[in-house]
Amino acid sequence: MTTIAVIGGTGKEGKGLALRWAHAGHSIIIGSRDAARAETAASELNDLLNKDAVRGLGNADAAQAAEVVVLSVPYEAHRATLEMIKDGAQGKVLIDVTAPLDPANKKKAYRVPEGSAGVAAQQFLGENVRVVSAFQNVSYTHLSNVEEDLGCDVLVCGNDKAAKQTVIALAKDAGMAAFNAGPIENSVVAEGLTAVLININIAFKIKNAGIHLTGVPR
Ligand SMILES: NC(=O)c1ccc[n+]([C@@H]2O[C@H](COP(=O)([O-])OP(=O)(O)OC[C@H]3O[C@@H](n4cnc5c(N)ncnc54)[C@H](OP(=O)(O)O)[C@@H]3O)[C@@H](O)[C@H]2O)c1
Repeated sequence: MTTIAVIGGTGKEGKGLALRWAHAGHSIIIGSRDAARAETAASELNDLLNKDAVRGLGNADAAQAAEVVVLSVPYEAHRATLEMIKDGAQGKVLIDVTAPLDPANKKKAYRVPEGSAGVAAQQFLGENVRVVSAFQNVSYTHLSNVEEDLGCDVLVCGNDKAAKQTVIALAKDAGMAAFNAGPIENSVVAEGLTAVLININIAFKIKNAGIHLTGVPR
């Protein structure tokens, strides 16, 4: 079992992932800019699961205390949050869930200067942190019911094969099939797909469009 810090775990996507991983038996630390807010979110999850698997800390302490760090914040907060967790993430796998959207129009993908949020994280954190980009295409609405069969797939991009295997295993624990989708540069595709899914959600007045690969062995 792994100790996983979910930075931004007070929010929609991070809280859903935290819930599923805690349900699967992992030890979870919710990270927040405000430790008290993290503790509140942690008790909420423990109450839902009826066990004591989640605790809350400030972002820097959460990253420091974990074996795997998950970053789940809006792109606008990406760089500032990376600064908070840079030291704590050294030597670890960091899973970046960030999907950059145009701040002026959330229906449009945002072109990150570095190429993608995943690449920006890898460049900023340095080679001692194995950044893996994943889960950008999983709607939070899927995650809150731990019994629901998600039926959606996860694209996993990163430069370290073993780190990607770790993330593929964690995705499985959370009820999702995940696939090695190549180096971290390819995360621009997975990140961009989120804006595509938002448009599909709007067109069908739904909240949970996702992706499902065809033709792959399962
Ligand atoms: N929601 C979805 O269904 C979904 C699906 C796929 C991918 N994503 C991606 O996952 C990431 C998180 O999405 P979300 O919907 O969970 O976001 P969110 O609920 O709006 O925010 C998540 C957390 O990020 C922190 N945060 C928010 N604004 C911030 C700011 N300006 N500066 C610093 N920290 C800030 C907050 O934590 P504290 O205030 O506690 O620090 C907040 O609880 C995004 O990149 C999103 O594109 C979301």
